[in-house]
Amino acid sequence: MKKKVICTLLASAMVATMLTGCGDKATETDTTKTEGTDDKADDAADDATDDATDDATDAADDDATDAADAADDAADDAAGDAASTDLSDKTVGVCIYQFSDNFMTLFRGELENYLIEKGFAKENIKIVDGANDQATQSGQIDNFITEGVDVMIVNPVNSSSAETITDKVVGAGIPLVYINREPDEAEEKRWEENNWDVTYVGCDASQSGTFQGEMIVDLGLDKVDLNGNGKIDYVMIEGDPENVDAQLRTEYSIKALEDAGLEVNCLDDQVGNWDQATAQQLVANSLSQHGADVEVVFCNNDAMALGALQSIETEGRKVGEDIFLVGVDALSEALENVLGGKMTGTVFNDHFAQSHSAADAAINFIAGTGNDKYIGCDYVKVTQDNAQSILDMVK
Ligand code: BGC
Repeated sequence: MKKKVICTLLASAMVATMLTGCGDKATETDTTKTEGTDDKADDAADDATDDATDDATDAADDDATDAADAADDAADDAAGDAASTDLSDKTVGVCIYQFSDNFMTLFRGELENYLIEKGFAKENIKIVDGANDQATQSGQIDNFITEGVDVMIVNPVNSSSAETITDKVVGAGIPLVYINREPDEAEEKRWEENNWDVTYVGCDASQSGTFQGEMIVDLGLDKVDLNGNGKIDYVMIEGDPENVDAQLRTEYSIKALEDAGLEVNCLDDQVGNWDQATAQQLVANSLSQHGADVEVVFCNNDAMALGALQSIETEGRKVGEDIFLVGVDALSEALENVLGGKMTGTVFNDHFAQSHSAADAAINFIAGTGNDKYIGCDYVKVTQDNAQSILDMVK
C-alpha cells in the first residue's frame, strides 16, 4: 500500500498572552490542535492503514486487505480529483502582510513557483503587498472578491482581523487559506463549526522557541555563564507582539532553559517587530546598559539576529566566546554566520513545506476535496553541525 509522506504536526500548543518586559508572566491557556495533514485523502489513507493493521492483528487478513484497497481507492480518488483539475484558467489572490519581510519574501517566491509547477498560469497568480497596513490589505481582499478569484491565500497583517476577513471571503463563496500568522482558537473553531472552506497552514512556534533554548542548554552552564552568577543572563528581542510566533518563541525559548534546570535572568525584553534595523538599535542599547553581563541574545527571527550581530560586533564582542546569539528562520546570511561561528544557531522555518502545503490546500479547495482546518509542519534546529546542509537546500 502506498502512503504519501506528509507534513504532519500533532501539537498540543500552549497559547500564551505574553506581556513585554522582563519578569512579566504569561497567561496560559491549554489548547489542543487538531492534526494537520495535506488533505483528506491522506487522512483516509492513514485511517484505513490503522484499521487494516488492527484487522490483521485480529487475524482478519482478508478484511485488512479490503480495507487497505478501499483506502487506496479513496486516496487515489481524492488525489486524482486534485491532480486532474485543470488549473490553467483558475485565479488565486495572495495577500502578503509586507513584501519587505525577508522570510515572507522567501515564502512568496516559493509559493508562486510551486503554484506554477502545479498548473496555474503565472498571470493568474496575483500577489499583493499589504505594506504592513491592515486597511490596505482589507482593500486588496475586497478587490480580489470583486474580481472573483477562485481561491485566496492570506498572510494577515493583524491576526485579530481574521474574523472580519473570513466573513467577507466566505460570504463571497471563495475558499480561504491563511498562512504564517495564525488566527486565534475561537476563529479556527468557527471554521470547524460552520464547515467553511477555510484553513491555516503554519508551523508550531513553540517548537522553534524550544529549539532556541535547547541550543543554549546544550552549550552547558559553565560555558554560557560568563559572569559566574549561576544564571543565564539574557536579552530577548521579540517580533510583532500580536503575532503568535513572537509570543510562543519568547515563552518557549526561556521555558527550555528552565526545564533543563537552569536559572534565568532577563536583562531586557524589547519589541523589534521582526526588523533588522530596529533590533540593531535595541541590542546596542542593551549592550551599553548591561555590558558584559549580557550572555545570550535571543531573537524571535534571523532578521533581528542579523541586526543584533551588527551591534555585538560594534561593541567588540565575539559570539561563541563572550556572548551567544540565536535566531529563527535559517535565512542564508544567518546560516553563513552559523557556519562562520558568528551566530550560535538558528531554527529552519521551512518555507518550502509551508508554501507547498498552502498551495496544495488551495488546489484541494478548488478541486472540492477540502482540507483539515489546521495544516502544520516541523521546524529544524540548526547549529554548525547541519548548517551547510540546510544552506544547500535554501540557496
Ligand atoms: C518569521 C519571521 C517573519 C514573520 C512574519 C515568522 O514566522 O519567523 O521572520 O517576520 O513570520 O509574520
